[in-house]
Amino acid sequence: MKIGFLASHYGSNMQAVITACKTDQLHATPCVVISNNSKSEALARAAREGIPSCHLSTTTHPSAEQLDQAIRQTLVAHQAELVLLAGYMRKLGPQTLAQYKGRIINIHPALLPKFGGAGMYGAHVHEAVLAAGETETGVTIHLVDEEYDHGAILAQSRVPVYQDDTVTLLAQRVLAREHSFLVETLQQIVAGTLCLPEHTRKA
Ligand code: GRF
Repeated sequence: MKIGFLASHYGSNMQAVITACKTDQLHATPCVVISNNSKSEALARAAREGIPSCHLSTTTHPSAEQLDQAIRQTLVAHQAELVLLAGYMRKLGPQTLAQYKGRIINIHPALLPKFGGAGMYGAHVHEAVLAAGETETGVTIHLVDEEYDHGAILAQSRVPVYQDDTVTLLAQRVLAREHSFLVETLQQIVAGTLCLPEHTRKA
């Protein structure tokens, strides 16, 4: 299965998947990395790994429609079969969503539907979890639709919150779980034991 990535910043989840592919833990091939941030570590990782990459943003394509078209065409040109949002900070446009309906997944550092939606990214998520006095949080992998953190949930993993937790400690614990859980979930998708709704449709 060819996986196309969209990532805005550090790309550590993307790296976990790339490493799993390279070490044969995951039978998939990273085919392209797209970032809206030309200076992102995600693009640097793609270069180091020899994976084709592309900066596509409102800078390269001021028109939302043309940006959407460029993202769709780039994924199709690299024959992506599954699209993984790995810390991608933008909504996808209707052309890309339609082309890859049921085959775009996102990873979120909390147990959705709690602590998701606009503004719930990075440290904000973990701050809100601690402020709410939660005793557990986790990782959610879900399908992507028009809304932030909104599509059907595919898999979740729980992570404990400790009494003396700080945002930094909690973020580290959740991120570590994200890396392993994302690979585990993709293994299930590739093996067909976790079915995507329109998994058989080709781009
Ligand atoms: C992760 O916490 C992910 O759940 C969220 O954005 C963060 C990306 O981290 N969507 P990284 O860029 O993969 O290190």
